Amino acid sequence: MPDVRVLPCILALFGALGDLALRKLVPALYQLDREGLLHPDTRILALARHSDGEGDPLAVIEKRLRHAVPANEWNDAVWNRFHARLGFIAMDFLDARSYADLRDAVTGDLPLVAYFATPASVFGGICENLAAVGLAERTRVVLEKPIGHDLESSRAVNEAVACVFPENRIYRIDHYLGKETVQNLIALRFANSLFETQWNQNHISHVEITVAEKVGIEGRWGYFDQAGQLRDMVQNHLLQLLCLIAMDPPSDLSADSIRDEKVKVLRALEPIPPEQLATRVVRGQYTAGFSKGKPVPGYLEEEHANRDSDAETFVALRVDIRNWRWSGVPFYLRTGKRMPQKLSQIVIHFKEPPHYIFAPEQRALISNRLIIRLQPDEGISLQVMTKDQGLGKGMQLRTGPLQLNFSETFQTARVPDAYERLLLEVMQGNQYLFVRKDEVEFAWKWCDHLIAGWQRLGDSPKPYPAGSWGPQAAVALIARDGRDWYGDH
Ligand code: BG6
Repeated sequence: MPDVRVLPCILALFGALGDLALRKLVPALYQLDREGLLHPDTRILALARHSDGEGDPLAVIEKRLRHAVPANEWNDAVWNRFHARLGFIAMDFLDARSYADLRDAVTGDLPLVAYFATPASVFGGICENLAAVGLAERTRVVLEKPIGHDLESSRAVNEAVACVFPENRIYRIDHYLGKETVQNLIALRFANSLFETQWNQNHISHVEITVAEKVGIEGRWGYFDQAGQLRDMVQNHLLQLLCLIAMDPPSDLSADSIRDEKVKVLRALEPIPPEQLATRVVRGQYTAGFSKGKPVPGYLEEEHANRDSDAETFVALRVDIRNWRWSGVPFYLRTGKRMPQKLSQIVIHFKEPPHYIFAPEQRALISNRLIIRLQPDEGISLQVMTKDQGLGKGMQLRTGPLQLNFSETFQTARVPDAYERLLLEVMQGNQYLFVRKDEVEFAWKWCDHLIAGWQRLGDSPKPYPAGSWGPQAAVALIARDGRDWYGDH
């Protein structure tokens, strides 16, 4: 039996026939139902633009769901129960007349969770229309990223939503916050006094955050080319990870205590001055290369590509945090498409002991690192120095891991998708895994400054072959400080 309190609601999924809903949200809801985490009274309303000639929308949803759920997790009884909760309403989200059917379908007094899996440009219009049919009072709204394209446009979106909804009923998604290992960062840091005493510039030399993806851009070129990797990944996912690593301990687990601490970190990010862009930031764009042993096209050769685009598909940067705890500790961030493997990991590098007593030639070996693997093979590994075993070895040092592999340790059959956790939390009314307005805005402010510097300098991305770890300049960026990216080969 689940040990969370499962509360009922009506979930209205705006954009239910879109890619995100079909690929992630509907499968996540099915999995919640399978795990007994949807209340028996919970109903799901799939909402999308649709005309009669386009076939049965629920059949489309079923087909995509069967495709998304692994065969051993498909259960006909669960599907029948899930199907019974599901309704479809054809709507034009910006047409107020469309909302009469939705209002009639929202019977009883359950809370309404309105999930906007739509472009941010329609968020404001949906909010107004929900208010116009009297549904706003009972509603929590869930906003998908990207929220805007820069500080100004994100403010416009946030303000349009805020005209109807108070902040405590707005749930901004950053799906990285729903990943199990990301939540584990909070447990690791604040349930173990062992780490907290070491977690500062006295003991840590530097931090690496890598989010590498194997996929390219393929069908998403239109969206991605307007964004680039900095807006698509750094403004949200990487800065959120940085915040969870760098923040001070919150006074409790409430949403605002955690978010207040994250905001302090975002405010302390040092803006990168234009004259340091060349040494502290590297933009890259993939060219033709190999993925899974097969040739793949470069970014500019993808379908629908604009051959002159200078959008970056890779970015590496050195970030400094201006506060007491982190002064002098660089955070090296890098993220890219078409990397050799899918890998998200955080590596905390500890300083050398203050006084060294072993053989001088072994000195380079000395390194305590805490490696937090977010995906794949979620787990935590602490690399410690030990003595090599054996009479003949003298005081020969070696590095060995103290390892915690989550799937082996907890014998979990599968790692839940981030959207399962996030949907569950919003249905329970918990905001702590969602991003507050000021977090989004401080993150944009910092990124906007960086982008303005690129534009002023006319910086263009450096090529890197698909299937590599990015441009050589990314190696030089960290090598300049006498370091290298952990684990690259
Ligand atoms: C999304 C980005 O937010 O995150 C995508 O828009 C990216 O470009 C995706 O591919 C990565 O998410 P994950 O969970 O696969 O690491």
